Amino acid sequence: MTVSDLAHVPEALAHAPEALAHAPDGSVTFDGADLTRLAADHGTPTWVVSASQLRHNYRSLLAALSARLPRPVIAYSMKANNNRAVIQTMGGLGAALDCSSEHELALAVSAGIPAGKVIINGNGKSRAYLTAAVRMGVWQINVDSLAEVDRIRSIARHYGVSVPCAVRLKLSYAQLLECDPSYERTLRVAEGKFGSSTQSGEAEAVVRAVLSAEELEFVGLTHHAGFPGIRADYSAERQLMHQTLCAREIVEFARLLRRELGFTVPRINLGGGLRSGRSVYLSTPGNGDDGEFRALPSPEEYAEAIADGVAELDWEPIVQFETGGFQVANAVLLLARVQDVKDVTRPGERRYVTVDCAMTMFTGRGLARVGFPVIAVGRRPDAPAHPVPVELVGPTCAYDSIAEDIMLPDLAEGDLVALLNHGAYCEVLSTQFNAFPRPAVVYLDRGRVTVARRRETLADVWERESAALDLWPGTPGTA
Ligand SMILES: Cc1ncc(COP(=O)(O)O)c(C=O)c1O
Repeated sequence: MTVSDLAHVPEALAHAPEALAHAPDGSVTFDGADLTRLAADHGTPTWVVSASQLRHNYRSLLAALSARLPRPVIAYSMKANNNRAVIQTMGGLGAALDCSSEHELALAVSAGIPAGKVIINGNGKSRAYLTAAVRMGVWQINVDSLAEVDRIRSIARHYGVSVPCAVRLKLSYAQLLECDPSYERTLRVAEGKFGSSTQSGEAEAVVRAVLSAEELEFVGLTHHAGFPGIRADYSAERQLMHQTLCAREIVEFARLLRRELGFTVPRINLGGGLRSGRSVYLSTPGNGDDGEFRALPSPEEYAEAIADGVAELDWEPIVQFETGGFQVANAVLLLARVQDVKDVTRPGERRYVTVDCAMTMFTGRGLARVGFPVIAVGRRPDAPAHPVPVELVGPTCAYDSIAEDIMLPDLAEGDLVALLNHGAYCEVLSTQFNAFPRPAVVYLDRGRVTVARRRETLADVWERESAALDLWPGTPGTA
């Protein structure tokens, strides 16, 4: 392979988020802050969040949905990125909040999100989680199973309250799978354990159980199609088709409930799986050959696909969304510094550029095909590429390839790179592998810089150790 086969860096710039600017002299700003200055002041590696991009993403989606749907509500799925600053930004914009554990619920409350704006998600929810949700009076619990109905009932009875419940559906996906068999991987790997089947009669049984429980209020149906770029063969057209067909199946089930139970479903929750930005960079870890940018739908296209899906309803429910990736994916970058450059000739010519961040700081890369476009900070946008393919790697002893076979200008120790689209499912999946402390998070808002999360120290890494060194006589450091 030669660099002429590769097309990464110039495309990375073409697909960069609105908040990023790469000037002809090579300087790069994100939300008005110069990245070279930011690295000097705050060190690397550092996650850099743009508040302006978060606002842009939320408002563009809400505007597109509002143009097509009567009463859309966007809940931010905090699983994608749980920085308090991000949660507060989303809350300040008016978003509701989607939680997936008692721990996320506690974080949401500590960020000042009112319980009345919280949606509770998850399978096999712990009693502690359900109890906290019931006591706080959340907006809605998405019920996963019949057994959970009983659990919520007993907690509600104990506290003498009524609990709003939506029922999570597992659809047939018959038409969807016919059009896109690759979606099977998403269903089997990611969605299998969730919800109650509309096909087997379980879903209707759960709805009936909620309707007949005096402690519970049936408020709607919920489903999450997921982002198919992670496992399926992604194209914007296919994803839009998934959204339309899933919405249609939910609507069909809502109409069946009206016919059979005489009940009009007030809320339809279509989950998340949407992504912001012009494109997603997909590449299979370990395979440098298949990396490519695939166009993403615009907010208007998402809205149109969903509106097509719910068009059959002859009443106007609240249409809810639980979006994580759409809000944050392109609103965060990871700023890292080159610490080594190594040229090899075997088995083929290749340049390894080791940076000071590691794939283990964003393990989502190892689990998914979603990759991160790379920009060389301080290099002119038209700087010539190094003549052989570059692999950007982390310094851990793991398979730690951050970006394979990409085109980058000549880089040297000390140079800066920005990994784009680092907002969704990166920091939340980070580890301390090889005892690397996790990066800081810096929050930008039109040039104003705030440290949202301090950098971890080595003391944080060993903070929970309880075994005293003198358990082993002769251990260095003992008397
Ligand atoms: C039930 C549910 N809702 C919403 C989301 C958020 O998905 P995304 O970040 O792709 O929008 C997820 C993600 O796993 C989910 O499982």
